[in-house]
Amino acid sequence: MPAPDLSLSTTVGPLRLKNPFLLASGPPSASGDQIRHAFRLGWAGAVTKTMVPDSMEVRDVSPRFAAWKGPGAGLLGFENIELLSHHDEAYWVREIAAVRQEFPDHALIASIMASPDPAEWQALAGTMQDAGADAVELNVSCPHGMPECGAGAAMGQHPEIVRDVTRAVRLVTRVPLIVKLTPNVTDIVPVAEAAVAGGADILAAINTVQCLMGIDLDTLEPLPAVAGAGTYGGYSGPAVKPIGLRVISQIAQKLPVPLMGIGGISRWQDAAEYIAAGASAVQVCTEVMWGGAGIIRDMNTGLSGYLAQKHFADTGALRGCALPRIGTHAALSRDTVSFATAGFLDRCIACGRCVTACRDGGYNAVSLENRQVVIDRTRCDGCGLCSQVCPEGVIVMQERRRGHGR
Ligand SMILES: Cc1cc2nc3c(=O)[nH]c(=O)nc-3n(C[C@H](O)[C@H](O)[C@H](O)COP(=O)(O)O)c2cc1C
Repeated sequence: MPAPDLSLSTTVGPLRLKNPFLLASGPPSASGDQIRHAFRLGWAGAVTKTMVPDSMEVRDVSPRFAAWKGPGAGLLGFENIELLSHHDEAYWVREIAAVRQEFPDHALIASIMASPDPAEWQALAGTMQDAGADAVELNVSCPHGMPECGAGAAMGQHPEIVRDVTRAVRLVTRVPLIVKLTPNVTDIVPVAEAAVAGGADILAAINTVQCLMGIDLDTLEPLPAVAGAGTYGGYSGPAVKPIGLRVISQIAQKLPVPLMGIGGISRWQDAAEYIAAGASAVQVCTEVMWGGAGIIRDMNTGLSGYLAQKHFADTGALRGCALPRIGTHAALSRDTVSFATAGFLDRCIACGRCVTACRDGGYNAVSLENRQVVIDRTRCDGCGLCSQVCPEGVIVMQERRRGHGR
């Protein structure tokens, strides 16, 4: 067995992890056997699929997924209208106890949800803690199905409800308490503050973003369609990473609470970005559904190589490094301006996208002469659109101090 890579080990509040990667609550953590499989492959921890009290019925529909795919069938965004665990409390008590014994150095976290009655949350949290869960994660953030019953995001959108349910569970739990937040709010900070005021040790964000994936223009059915009809679901996968990064960094700027970043993590680079934005660890769901739990190998090796290359002793040294650079729009420099330059002309394929974009969406500063990009600096406003649309990386932006020539 290879020696553990100490640079990857991390602590998230009271939790110690051998690397920063956990399975997020969802289909990949829906059974004890899937969690065992992931632990064997190298995941440091897992948050179980959210379990509910036996009194709460879970009746899923099928199908319940819709994917937005890019060229080569690569996943861009994913919608689900799935509900919660199909297993009863007794199943999870058995599996948590067994997995805990088999994998004592992995973090096994019980995700729970109940009706708005705090006593139900307390009972379920107590049961899973007694079964051996290393931590309990409160799901007050599922955006579909459950809010219609007053649970999930219907609770997580109200700071005072988040504070009260967290406080109630805190009263009965010794193990670390994680609150998983919904991005479906106008301002995440008051909700994060409420969870901390209620006694949360760690915050996890984000759960899925409420969405409608699409309309089938042949049948006019919404996607996914269940016997011809649809509903709003939860958006995940690569498309939501910018929202997750925004949420994590906003919380990290305001509160000293340990954070787990979630949302659109499909490569080690995404995880490194979440850590630089303030997360101590990350959770992954959709990419495991799409690519299998084996992605952990590349995630661990890639992150470890990056830390070494950049001379970060460990993930803790990278944590929050980008935060001082994320501020208000007003604070951004007006002394520096950028301008476009055709930096790598040998790569230009004369596709003309930059010309069209700058003509119709910019400042008419780009033209093609002899099938090569030419930029009129007297017209260029430095917006950067041409460099964004260029498929070959021909156009690069350069900075200069305002007033120092064009
Ligand atoms: C099919 C599916 C089922 C999910 N079920 C749960 C769940 O039971 N409890 C929960 O807290 N989050 C659930 N999630 C949300 C994920 O844990 C995660 O917060 C979200 O998908 C964003 O991360 P990702 O882009 O890595 O998937 C689910 C996500 C998907 C795609």
